[in-house]
Amino acid sequence: MEIKNICVLGAGLMGNGIAQVCAQAGYSVTLRDIEQRFVDGGMNTIRKNLAKEVEKGKRTQEDMNAVLGRIKPTLDMKEAAANADIVVEVVIEVMDVKKKVYAELEEIVPAHCLFFTNTSGLSITEMAAVTKRPDKFIGTHFFNPVPVMRLLEIIKGYETSADTLAAAEAWGKKIGKELVVVKEAPAFVVNRILCTMLNEAFFVLGEGLASPEDIDKGMVLGCNHPIGPLALSDLVGNETLLRVIDGLHRELGDKYRPAPLLVQLVRAGRFGRKVGKGVFNYK
Ligand code: 3HC
Repeated sequence: MEIKNICVLGAGLMGNGIAQVCAQAGYSVTLRDIEQRFVDGGMNTIRKNLAKEVEKGKRTQEDMNAVLGRIKPTLDMKEAAANADIVVEVVIEVMDVKKKVYAELEEIVPAHCLFFTNTSGLSITEMAAVTKRPDKFIGTHFFNPVPVMRLLEIIKGYETSADTLAAAEAWGKKIGKELVVVKEAPAFVVNRILCTMLNEAFFVLGEGLASPEDIDKGMVLGCNHPIGPLALSDLVGNETLLRVIDGLHRELGDKYRPAPLLVQLVRAGRFGRKVGKGVFNYK
């Protein structure tokens, strides 16, 4: 089956990046969100990213226009998904919300359409089970910022077919990513390791062992990480980190207890860069 049309559901931090890399690879993309301001925000980010590349001489203005021309923003689920060969679902990390989206999609998409979910750690198998096509369902976990980060982590659910895996791998390569294919488990592989480390940084901060700046400096200069764990948590979103850790804690036990300071920051609305304040202030 030739893949031409990609529907991306969710125009936020990850969704707009996924739409951008798909359009760059030549796919025709619909980018759907539930409010005009989210769709506009996503399109503005893509425009800004591409314009930066034009400024740096990495892309021509014509190419930028062509990439933008391949992305159709919309609020209408039917318009977004009716002709989709692949739906990449990037909606909020709440299982019940994702399940509702899949129930709605089933009534709209063509029979051959594949469902790819971008989740930080929710069960692929549980989402797939509410659809009539669990064999055509797979996890495709991207990393922020999507246009920059090279990895795509692919997660097979219990019923995922070999054909769906092959299609996800071919698509991942075409959009320029390196792939790892992993088995399903809470938070999969990369987030199980990464988010545990980020959570530990919040324990260290909460215990007053060092300042946030020095914790980050330690990991940047001592371990060659590109940014420190607290700055990274602000980049990913502290509420997203907490959701992943809560999932690990629920399924794998006390080793993954969320750091009290992380819980408190989330309660304070300090979600990170996207709201201008997290561990650090950005305004
Ligand atoms: N969108 C697009 N491009 C971006 C970008 C963004 N949001 N942020 C930075 N870039 C580009 C810049 O334009 C620049 O491009 P150039 O090399 O062509 O000039 C390049 O990336 C480097 O950017 P900067 O020079 O501004 O800054 P840095 O060198 O500090 O790089 C970074 C920024 C790439 C974000 C780097 O800090 C980094 O790698 N941080 C770690 C990111 C990471 O670990 N991500 C994974 C998070 S976990 C996750 O997403 C999973 C989820 O489920 C929780």
